[in-house]
Amino acid sequence: MLKKAASKYRPFPPIHLPDRQWPNRVLTAPPTWCSVDLRDGNQALAVPMNVSQKLEMFDALVKCGFKEIEVGFPAASNTEFAFMRRLIEDKRIPDDVTVQVLVQAREDLIERTVESLVGAKSAIVHLYNSTSPAQRRIVFGLGKAEILQMARRGTQWIKDRLPRLAGTHVRLEYSPESFSATEVEFAVEICAAVMDVWQPTPDAKVILNLPDTVEVAMPNVYADQIEWFIRHLPRRDAAIISVHTHNDRGTGVAATELAMLAGAERVEGTLFGNGERTGNLDIVTVALNLYMHGIDPGLEFGDLNGLREVYERCTGMVVPPRQPYAGELVFTAFSGSHQDAIRKGLRAWESAVEKGESIHWDIPYLTLDPGDLGREYREVIRVNSQSGKGGVAYLLESEFGIELPKDMQREFGPIANDEVDRLGREVRATELKAMFWREYVERATPWHLEHFATEGSDGVVSCRARMVRDGNAVAIAGRGNGPIAAFVHALVAGGAPKFEVAHYAEHALGSGEGAAAIAYIQIRLGDGRTRWGAGVDTSIELASIKAVVSALNRG
Ligand code: KIV
Ligand code: ZN
Repeated sequence: MLKKAASKYRPFPPIHLPDRQWPNRVLTAPPTWCSVDLRDGNQALAVPMNVSQKLEMFDALVKCGFKEIEVGFPAASNTEFAFMRRLIEDKRIPDDVTVQVLVQAREDLIERTVESLVGAKSAIVHLYNSTSPAQRRIVFGLGKAEILQMARRGTQWIKDRLPRLAGTHVRLEYSPESFSATEVEFAVEICAAVMDVWQPTPDAKVILNLPDTVEVAMPNVYADQIEWFIRHLPRRDAAIISVHTHNDRGTGVAATELAMLAGAERVEGTLFGNGERTGNLDIVTVALNLYMHGIDPGLEFGDLNGLREVYERCTGMVVPPRQPYAGELVFTAFSGSHQDAIRKGLRAWESAVEKGESIHWDIPYLTLDPGDLGREYREVIRVNSQSGKGGVAYLLESEFGIELPKDMQREFGPIANDEVDRLGREVRATELKAMFWREYVERATPWHLEHFATEGSDGVVSCRARMVRDGNAVAIAGRGNGPIAAFVHALVAGGAPKFEVAHYAEHALGSGEGAAAIAYIQIRLGDGRTRWGAGVDTSIELASIKAVVSALNRG
């Protein structure tokens, strides 16, 4: 990179608009949405969609609630033309949906475009030509007057052919392509010239689409351009102001939102921001940004995962994992403190809802309810050497239903952390469970239990057990006020160090008759040291006996 960037690049000249109004406004209603997935999105694919993919995408867009859909560039190829005809002839366009087609200001292309529309109920013919100084000079080698003339002529050619579309409600959209890089005065002049030819009225408006074809400045500059344009356009009441942003500087969404504050009434974009280079505006994001402020966007994304699947299948593109709202990871919390805050927030919200208190969504780290989009909040709990005992215990409980007593958490937490430290990486839940099993449940030396039986009643229990100690069989027997006490007595009488049971807990691991139980036992040795043990068995009595052996083996 250059040390002196200014020797190669220039700042973007600001718009003179000292009394700009848009910063003081607030959005209260959605714009009219127009999907350009099948045109701008499609033309930017390495392998453009075939007819059946386009049809599937069209149906998905209709299901989302788009009422204006740019379906293609019918004069550009036979596939595009055939697709338009297929939609019309197979009557696949709902009555309340308007199809839009793009065309350059060339008579032969306009002729073919009009032909493609015959039989449609309602259509927007989208005419464009490039207007920026660089396009005028470098690409066309034309002056302003000739560029103006091109737009006028294109409009007239479309107007001349309206009788051919007698049964179709036709509207005109005009785009001064690369509007954001065009002098605002010239943009107004050329749009006014198009209006002079078309003669729109407040009841039959023209759509003036002002593209941020390539983002060239900050979003506030684009908003200034939109407000300036609107304030200087003659016969403003006969035009719908539309915006069409791309994302070259990563601010397509911001530019659109500020442009809406500046007066834009219509927004063009694509699902998940597919489109040339860095993409078109992501309509899903703008719509859901409105939704999270309590504004009904007029689009339905209640099955966002399903929509993403259709999109990925049809376009071959992948929605990045951190894409707002739609990405795989956007409703996943990794950080323990975030998870804690979200859990508390959800609990508070659910209890307020249960009590019938009207409460707005206000959950830390979750800007909207993933359930509204058919999605779920997920916690990813991974244990690393920095994780506290709480994380270890939570993971064992949430993944396997293992509810360690608090004091046992304090013992196992550091054991798990040392092991993770030794591995030098994060561990998954199954690995953590295996550690717990190795440390407690599978401890079989020096003592190993082969058989255990009890008899007796009235508060006195006798037990017999066959043990293996350091490889040698040992038969032991004891008495106590219950099976555990009897077993402790038998072990100590059979040569184990003196110990007593300090703490006991158990619970089922799963449900049903054959479900296993897990018992946790803490023993206190003669020198005052304590040790936990755990045992698992389908018999709760045997689970506790095994837990005693586990604790003893850990002594
Ligand atoms: O980005 C753009 O300028 C376009 C126009 C054709 C509207 O896609
Ligand atoms: Zn575009």
